[in-house]
Amino acid sequence: PPDPPIRRLTGAFTTWEDTLERATGKLKLGAAVNSDIEREESSRWRESVRQLPVISSQPLSRDERQLRRAHVCLTFIMHFYAHSLPPQESAVSIPAPIAVPLVQVSRELGIRPILTYADTVLWKWSLQDFSKPLSIANVELDGPFTNTPDEAHFYLTSARIELRGVEALAIMRRSMDELFLGDHLAKRRIARYLCRLAVVVGDLASLLMAVREHCDPHVFYHEIRPWFNGGNSHKHGWVYEGVSEAEAETIKALGGPSAGQSSLVHALDAFLGVDHTGTAPPKSVPVPIPNPVPQSGDSTFLSRQQQYMPRHHRAFLQHLASSHSLRDFIHSNTDNQALVQAYDTAVDALKKFRDGHIRIATLYIVNQAKATVSSSGPGPIRGTGGTALVPFLKEARDNTLKTMVGK
Ligand code: HEM
Ligand code: ALA
Repeated sequence: PPDPPIRRLTGAFTTWEDTLERATGKLKLGAAVNSDIEREESSRWRESVRQLPVISSQPLSRDERQLRRAHVCLTFIMHFYAHSLPPQESAVSIPAPIAVPLVQVSRELGIRPILTYADTVLWKWSLQDFSKPLSIANVELDGPFTNTPDEAHFYLTSARIELRGVEALAIMRRSMDELFLGDHLAKRRIARYLCRLAVVVGDLASLLMAVREHCDPHVFYHEIRPWFNGGNSHKHGWVYEGVSEAEAETIKALGGPSAGQSSLVHALDAFLGVDHTGTAPPKSVPVPIPNPVPQSGDSTFLSRQQQYMPRHHRAFLQHLASSHSLRDFIHSNTDNQALVQAYDTAVDALKKFRDGHIRIATLYIVNQAKATVSSSGPGPIRGTGGTALVPFLKEARDNTLKTMVGK
């Protein structure tokens, strides 16, 4: 959103703000608590959450910015609550004073009742210098869970990518207009736009790699990311108290935040025609594979992630998906070398972005997990969104590579 997000709710809702403030940077992960004082402090804070009045979010109704702030506030409190608990065998119970308004607010916003990418980035940024406009150099985020510069920089990396992505969105829009015309001049312009898009996507990759500048992989893996996990990372899930049983059942195993919820990369996929459904027809005559390897990625994950996006983003992606297909257009113009090459350059830039992302996930998760004997539980290493991350990310990258038309 172009306007800075609201920093604090007022009136009856200050109780949520105060509760969040009292947890910010002060609570430890349940598994990391190692003194009686910490245990008591943490348990007292959770008691105060259970004692909060169950207030209706009705007064916030129809004020999008306030609803967003309420979602930010309640989801951060919920994750503080769930992850500061000592490890337990039974389901995690989310107290009604949080669960009830969160479900209400989420329904109005058309987003899942859990911490999302929108809560950690899109609805949470502020300006570093209020006298200047929003830009990559003038955006700021804090790190509520740990109060570390590493956490702040982790969110900042995404915010910068979103801001650089604005040009990509403008290029997509202009190209769609030209696609509608489809004449000779349009083809020249589309080729030019696609070359420019490749540059912008290259910048997104550089911004992503810059996460390493101030976010230490060890701090990220051990101190920051455990807070992100959702109900799907717990054997028995999270139970939202005070919510109808049927509804509680459908939301008990939601995934935690992941930049897989950023509509920017989904938009690039939709625009370029990258198919992640696992149903893409083979590009040429299929070569028989002697030992077919079963598909181990999760082809439905990315489409499910759209339910964790702000509803306007979801609507935009649906619009893109139903628009003229750029890829079909390129396919029917394979005699136009410049056009095909420009298209493949843009696809290749996205493929390189995903290569870089795999390197980051390896550095921040896989290598850290390998170095931690106790963290190797049963099954594959999972992302905070819940995927078996290694095959999933590789498959997303390979789907991008397969999209190229030339060669
Ligand atoms: C997905 C890790 C930063 C874009 C994922 C997944 C993991 C992961 C494990 C799999 C989904 C899950 O289960 O959570 C990381 C790590 C990062 C990082 C460790 C930094 C330390 C970013 C940033 C972006 C990004 C800054 C860009 C906005 C994506 C996308 C997906 C994804 C688009 C979906 C898969 C795809 O489309 O290829 N990430 N990520 N990630 N991440 Fe990241
Ligand atoms: N999705 C990222 C992870 O799994 C944040 O760490």
